[in-house]
Amino acid sequence: MGAVPCSAQCFIWVFIAMLLLSLLLIGTLFFVVLDYGVVVKTDGYHPNPAAVGTTAPFADPTLVRTGPNAYPVHMLAHLWAYTPSPLHVPQGAAITFYLTSADVVHGFQVQGTTINMTAVPGIIGYVTYSFAHAGTYNIICNEFCGIEHQSMIGRIIVDPEKRT
Ligand code: CUA
Repeated sequence: MGAVPCSAQCFIWVFIAMLLLSLLLIGTLFFVVLDYGVVVKTDGYHPNPAAVGTTAPFADPTLVRTGPNAYPVHMLAHLWAYTPSPLHVPQGAAITFYLTSADVVHGFQVQGTTINMTAVPGIIGYVTYSFAHAGTYNIICNEFCGIEHQSMIGRIIVDPEKRT
């Protein structure tokens, strides 16, 4: 028995199936890149990772209010800690973390939240998050970065909302 020859109608259906798969792939790519921050957004670059901790804006890691409920913070990952840590943030506020590394690649995963970024030297990534519940959150380095990797833990302390 030889192979069954594919009729013209069969080719059309194969073509339609391929077309649908292509559209699905392209649609998924657009969704991932443009939506929901699945790809971490980049705010900028800096040429000298070794000096990033001593130059603005990472040199001053204080939390400054820039809007009614907006608090940007410049977070530096380095061997083997985070600066600032512990970081106090108000409950319910929109905290934008601008993150970079001063040396090697580090992780920046905040336990109990959806925050999970990679700190890459030379690149500033950012993510905005609002802590709904007060408490202490651990920042975990989830990229192997050297001998003290397992002890690279930072703290975010979410202070309860003041009722006035
Ligand atoms: Cu930093 Cu692992």
